[in-house]
Formats: sequence, structure tokens, C-alpha cells
Amino acid sequence: MKIAFSKPEQTNSGTLVVGVSEERKLSPAAAALDKKSGGILTRAMGASRFKGKKDDLLEIVAPKGLSLARIVLIGLGKLEKLDALRLQGMGGQLVAFLNRVGETVATMQVDTLPGVPLQAPDMAAHIAYGAKLRSYRFDKYRTREKEESKPTLRSFNFMVTDIAAARKASAPLDRLADAIFFTRDLVSEPPNVIYPETLAERCKRLTAVGVKVEILDEKQLTKLGFNALLGVAQGSVRPPRVVVMHWNGAPKAKDKRPVAFCGKGVTFDTGGISIKPAGGMEDMKWDMAGAGAVIGLMEALAARRARVNAIGAVGLVENMPSGSAQRPSDIVKSLSGKTIEVLNTDAEGRLVLCDVMWYVQDRFKPKALVDLATLTGAVIVALGHEYAGIFSNNDDLTKNLIAAGEAVGERLWRLPLGDAYDRDIDSDAADVKNIGGGRVAGSTIGAQFLARFVNDVPWAHLDIAGVAWSKKDMPTVPKGATAFGVRLLDRLVADHYEEPA
Ligand code: BES
Ligand code: MN
Ligand code: ZN
Repeated sequence: MKIAFSKPEQTNSGTLVVGVSEERKLSPAAAALDKKSGGILTRAMGASRFKGKKDDLLEIVAPKGLSLARIVLIGLGKLEKLDALRLQGMGGQLVAFLNRVGETVATMQVDTLPGVPLQAPDMAAHIAYGAKLRSYRFDKYRTREKEESKPTLRSFNFMVTDIAAARKASAPLDRLADAIFFTRDLVSEPPNVIYPETLAERCKRLTAVGVKVEILDEKQLTKLGFNALLGVAQGSVRPPRVVVMHWNGAPKAKDKRPVAFCGKGVTFDTGGISIKPAGGMEDMKWDMAGAGAVIGLMEALAARRARVNAIGAVGLVENMPSGSAQRPSDIVKSLSGKTIEVLNTDAEGRLVLCDVMWYVQDRFKPKALVDLATLTGAVIVALGHEYAGIFSNNDDLTKNLIAAGEAVGERLWRLPLGDAYDRDIDSDAADVKNIGGGRVAGSTIGAQFLARFVNDVPWAHLDIAGVAWSKKDMPTVPKGATAFGVRLLDRLVADHYEEPA
């Protein structure tokens, strides 16, 4: 789908979209069209439930005299609440509708409206961004799809007086959307295509935007002592990788320490010898969504030349049962030197992350560390698919992450850490065990395990198991891989870690 911005002019084909706010108040563009068409907008509204509320949408077959196919009225809701997030949602909603009715070209007139917190060029940019995000499709393996089920919308044009300002506002959002698509692609790919070596290979694309991409192979990981990670990988014929991505966007900063992001990249999680039941196991292809988000984030930061020094590190393994797989009760010596009793081979994400997080802290001395992982099923029991869980040793970082999440529509809910939970992972045989004694507070137990490998640094762990994949369409996220975390962390960096221009 092509997105364009142009000056307001007469539209002669396809669909024309105009906004109507609460109480059926027509925007200037809608009012002009109503007048030109002899009051058809007013009449159509009168004959329907359309009130101009948020999410309201009304389709009108264009009357004789207009060469358009149709007019679409979109509800703007309360104008003072029409912020960036709502505008994005509107763009997404429009794309879904236009594809459903089989439209190929659409135009929307966007005017500055009294009360709206944004000016027309920014409004247009955000609607366009939402439209693009919703247009994502992972269809490369569908070779026999019927024409009538394919999306039809080819171009979406936004008419706005100041085109230059709209293009300027749109450019960074457009690049962010491309990074989100990259993440969605990685997470959607099947595990016979994306496994540690191929995922590491795909990271090389980031060199095009100036990211330094370092790939550690099995030999190097062995030499360095990533034994917790290697223990997970040893059951698979696919060798593991760790990818370290460097974006050095603030070379002149006073404090050159980077902000670091670590991602769980289990390209398929069978559970290992503690094998999972067959039903639903296919979901475990997206057990690398944390890594996928970190990779997309690093691309996003570099693509918009963010004035920040950032490190992204991902631990890539496949968790398989086999004659060479790790056994429940194995003891491994992690990179930190701490020994871990592996009592359940399905609690593997924490084993991968503890080595990657240790490595990043030890080598880069980051000023903050955020990890993302589809770590526990328990977080889905607690929060469903609405919020990701956040666990942190730092209230400021937590507050900043929650605020960034609210701003971009990737919401976080804080869950506790604490000594009483920590005691539950004391092992009789080693320094720590990888599961707790009971079946309660599973997400906290996972976080508590990671906390054992965190030094004196502000750290937050995001358990994204419930939000990495969506089984239903959402305004700016079609069902499937969500790329949760890319928008959130891009926003965190923009608001708190960038040097002034
Ligand atoms: N990858 C899973 C967690 C998961 C479950 C992600 C469902 C997405 C959807 C993780 O490796 C896992 O298996 N966790 C176990 C931990 C348990 C063995 C302590 C779990 O949640 O059951
Ligand atoms: Mn597992
Ligand atoms: Zn897992």
C-alpha cells in the first residue's frame, strides 16, 4: 500500500474519507462535501446510528454528479481527545474497512480542527502511520490465495495544506513502521526458516543503517563460558548464536555508557526433556519475540539517527529434546560463575538471558538495562493479552517505561519482586535453581531468577508472553506478530536517553 500526501483538490475516484466529530459536527471538508452533494452526508447520518463518536464509521455510495465511488464518514469523537494514538487507530480502522469493501484508492482530507492537540500535518502523519501499521501482512508462503481474499487497497492519499510539514512528520514514523515490519517478519517466520544461524544472519541487514553487528558463534560462546545458554542449545542440531548490535548515536555524550536491551531468542521451544504437550506447541515459534523486538528496535534507533548509545544483545537457541539434550537436575556454571541446577528444561528462557545479560553488563557497563522475553505462561494468566508484565529494581525506570507504553499503546503492568520469592529459587545442590518450589507466582519467580544476574544497574524485565502474538485484529496490529516492545522502547529512548540536538 502506497501512502502519499498532496494538496487539497477535487477527488474524482475511489473513496473520499472525511471526519465528523461528536454530535454529528461536520469538519470543514465534510461540510463542503455535504453542501456540494445537496446534503447527502446530513441525510445519511440522519438515517443511521452514526453519531461521530470514536470508532463510528458510515459508508455512503457517492451520489450522481460526483465521480467518486463512495464517501466514508469517520467518527473523530471528542476533539480534545484526538491524540496521536487515536489518530493512528483511526488510520488502522480505515485500512481494514477499505480492504473489506474492496476499495483500491482512497483519499482523506485532514484539516486542523479547534480543540485537537495536533495540527493537520501531524494529524495526517499519525493517521498514515496507523494505516501503514494495519496494512502489514505476512503472506509470503501463500501461493494459492484467491484474489477476492487479498487486500485491495493500493494507495491512501492524505490531502493537507502543508504537504512539506506532513512529509517531515511522517518520515520518522514511516521508518519506525519499517522496523516494526522487520520484527513482525522475523517473529512470523516458521522455525524451519528462522533458527539461530539464520536469525543472526538476518541481523546483518542493520549494518545498512549504521549498526555494528557482531555475531558470536558456538565456539566463541564456549570459550567465553556461556554455559547456561549452551546447556539449552545442546539438544538441538542447530548451533546457538549471540548477536550484539551496537548503535553509537551519541559519540560526543559526556556519559558514553550505553543503554542496553537484551532479548530472549528461543527460535522454537519444545520444552526440551521437560517436553510441552502437543496442543498449542506451534505457538512456540514466536518464543524469540523478545529478540525480534530488540533487533527491530536497534534498526529503528539507527534509522532515525537517535542521539543515543545503545546496545542490543540477543541470545539465540533452539530448545529441543534429544539424546544430547540437557536433563532435569543437570548443573551448569553460568557466565557469571554462579551455578544453576536445571530442574525443568522448559524454564529455558531465563537460562539464555542470564548469560546474555551478564555479558552485556560486564562488557558495556550500561546505564540502564531492559530485557524482553516471552518468559512465562503465568504472565498470561495474570494479565491476559492487554498488558505485559514489568519487573524492576528501579522505580524511575519503571515509571518511564509505563509512561512510554501508555503513549504508544503498548501497556505495562508492574508485578512484584521480593526476598520471599527469591528464597524460593535457592537450590540444595547449586547456587540457584531455575524453577521455584511451588506452582505459584510463576512470572515473579522467572524475574527473580534473572535478578540474581543483575548487578548495580537500573534494570527492568518485560515479560511479553501475553502480548507478542495476537489472535485477533487490533486497530494498528493485524492478528499475528505484534512487534510489542519496538514502539515502547523507541519512545523510552526518545524521552529519556537521547542527547539534546
Ligand atoms: N516460552 C515459554 C513461556 C510461554 C508460554 C510463552 C506461553 C508464550 C506463551 C517458557 O519458556 C516456558 O515454557 N515457561 C514455563 C516455565 C515453567 C516451566 C517454570 C511456563 O510458563 O510454563
Ligand atoms: Mn519453555
Ligand atoms: Zn520459552
